[in-house]
Amino acid sequence: MTTSAAATPPAAAGNTVAVVGCGDVGSVLAAELAAAGHRVIGVRRRAVELPQPIETVRADVTVSRSLEVLPDGLDLVVYLVAADRRDPEAYRAAYVDGVANVLAAAAARAAPSCRFVFASSTAVYGQTGGEWVDEDSPTEPPDFRGALLLEGEALVHAAPPRGVVVRLAGIYGPGRTRLIDAVRAGRASASPNRPEYTNRIHRDDCAGAIAHVAGLPEPDGVYLGVDDRPAPRDEVLGWLAAELDAPAEPVDADDGPSEDRRSNKRCSNARLRASGYELRFPTYVEGYRAVLAGTSRPPDSSKE
Ligand SMILES: NC(=O)c1ccc[n+]([C@@H]2O[C@H](COP(=O)([O-])OP(=O)(O)OC[C@H]3O[C@@H](n4cnc5c(N)ncnc54)[C@H](OP(=O)(O)O)[C@@H]3O)[C@@H](O)[C@H]2O)c1
Repeated sequence: MTTSAAATPPAAAGNTVAVVGCGDVGSVLAAELAAAGHRVIGVRRRAVELPQPIETVRADVTVSRSLEVLPDGLDLVVYLVAADRRDPEAYRAAYVDGVANVLAAAAARAAPSCRFVFASSTAVYGQTGGEWVDEDSPTEPPDFRGALLLEGEALVHAAPPRGVVVRLAGIYGPGRTRLIDAVRAGRASASPNRPEYTNRIHRDDCAGAIAHVAGLPEPDGVYLGVDDRPAPRDEVLGWLAAELDAPAEPVDADDGPSEDRRSNKRCSNARLRASGYELRFPTYVEGYRAVLAGTSRPPDSSKE
């Protein structure tokens, strides 16, 4: 396992950072930024105290006035709110309306050099032919999810503070064991006759990559947040089955929705790599091994 360089937000230690949507990824990011000497405010709706020294703030991004609690002089705002449900209304609330409200609140309270980092998704791509995609590839999302995320991205690029979008692939990590559980139970499916490339990133690399791009002197507008190895789904399932000593043959049953089930593309992290980020978990092999061994940080304990 390699480790990334220390998190380096806009300037040296002592910045004020708001992590809006301080859940699983946000808690790791907030802890790392606080450890690096920044003042970190973690924002979420529920009254869940984040560990000290993170300052917990309760606010709902869909209610503008609730964001008045944000402090002045913000140097960095990271938007990690996740939709409550997989429907257009929830997606619009989380990835369009909430983004607009937080951008407005941040603009009113931002330091001149403030950055805004938005966690988007590789769901903005509609490619299905197993081709490579990067930040310049066409974005023709097949459904409302990608379309609404693109609306959110456009808001981030249009308004101050300066925005950076990180399009994350399927996140896995401690506590996110849907695929592991499905393989263990013999419920995971893959069609060897229809290759299906899947893309993923370990939760800790989501946090690491976001901290990294936030600290770049001249970041690009968009980065793909994915690991080094887009992998065929049947390969990942077979590898997990071997690790778990579970049934090796994929069975014909669905293990539920995933970021990539209806697509088939290979997402490139070349831009992120070229910017200097070193993945902590370069492929699913290192990442799932750490999850299975319980050697990653524990998951966000407030998740239901
Ligand atoms: N899951 C994936 O594979 C995937 C793939 C690509 C991108 N992403 C994106 O990655 C980001 C981080 O994901 P994650 O796994 O860390 O999500 P998570 O653990 O569910 O955290 C999301 C946080 O947002 C807060 N939140 C939700 N609605 C809110 C609202 N209206 N106002 C304020 N806070 C709100 C939640 O807390 P409360 O409920 O207490 O408010 C929670 O703490 C998200 O933006 C997600 O869309 C995820």
